Amino acid sequence: MAYELPFRARIIGSGSFIPPRVVTNDELEKIVDTSDEWIRTRTGIRERHIVSEVIGDHTGAMGTADMAERACKEALEMAKVKPSEIDMVVVATITPDLRLPSVAALLQARLGLTNASGFDVVAACAGSLYALSIADKFITTGAAKRVLVVGGETLSSVTNWRDRNTCVLFGDAAGAFVVEAAPREGEGFVDSQLYMDGTHWDTIHIPAGGSKRMLTPQLLEQRADRIIMNGRETYKFAVRALTEAAEAILKRNRMTASDIHHVVAHQANLRIIEAVAERLAVPLDRFVINIDRYGNTSSASVLLTFDEARRGGRMKGGENVLMLAIGAGMVWASGLYRT
Ligand SMILES: CC(C)(COP(=O)(O)OP(=O)(O)OC[C@H]1O[C@@H](n2cnc3c(N)ncnc32)[C@H](O)[C@@H]1OP(=O)(O)O)[C@@H](O)C(=O)NCCC(=O)NCCS
Repeated sequence: MAYELPFRARIIGSGSFIPPRVVTNDELEKIVDTSDEWIRTRTGIRERHIVSEVIGDHTGAMGTADMAERACKEALEMAKVKPSEIDMVVVATITPDLRLPSVAALLQARLGLTNASGFDVVAACAGSLYALSIADKFITTGAAKRVLVVGGETLSSVTNWRDRNTCVLFGDAAGAFVVEAAPREGEGFVDSQLYMDGTHWDTIHIPAGGSKRMLTPQLLEQRADRIIMNGRETYKFAVRALTEAAEAILKRNRMTASDIHHVVAHQANLRIIEAVAERLAVPLDRFVINIDRYGNTSSASVLLTFDEARRGGRMKGGENVLMLAIGAGMVWASGLYRT
């Protein structure tokens, strides 16, 4: 039975953190058999940022919670909300600092979210929209008033720096939103939809290090604790799934491509974004693009991209923002936000 929900979830603050260490395509040329030209033309990436000074060193440098903490502080500051006023923190990540407990728990202690419950969400590069959708559901039903939504990834720690198929793609970053219950009219989330097709679980995966195949010295040497990806399959799946998800959410909300002012899509590959733009007939200049500077930052990317666009004055009041993301699972999601 359809019924009118009492609230709309509104983003009242956003923040992001990019670690200072830049890895250029030229630097990757020295590690694997690749070229700046190949990376730029196939992916649109010019550089990415990582947490550690030395590529592949994760022996105590900054981790996901450190980046997330900084992004959250920015978001809380913009929202003018005290940490004690947050009643839930939802963190999307596939690279938590520890296997136990959650990054959400670490953030709760560090930020002083004294009245918050929280948990981590594992939905790979769709994690940001999964976390946002969860926050939206808690808020629209009245179960939570203010939710901190976070996406943070230290992908450099699960990147095989010997594999040119993947090591050129990823970067580290964090993004955060403060989402608050607001009246149904005006700014806020209009709709979201989550999808999954687990039959493609092995298209992007990490083969070992979980409960079934614990790490041995041999597996570590084989880099079995790092991401393996079938790039071509991912590309084809992503273009189709994102296009269909966008068409479905527009149709359900009686909108067409011309009603969309901005598209904040997961930054996986510029060519995926271009292909989706063409299929949807949405001009490419309505897509917010920063993959050239950050690469694929997984669950950070949508939050970070939205934050940059809004802070940069790109979004005005009364505009429609289409959000799209896809990642390992395969999982994907769409969202519609009214500014
Ligand atoms: C990974 C990706 C950029 C590869 O581009 P592509 O045009 O599909 O390239 P292909 O897979 O057809 O590979 C073409 C050749 O380039 C080579 N290649 C792969 N990475 C390379 C690199 N960094 N530098 C140079 N050559 C590379 C391959 O080995 C292959 O060589 P071969 O033909 O001799 O076997 C592309 O498939 C992609 O972006 N996929 C989606 C990835 C993604 O978004 N993942 C995250 C989802 S959340």
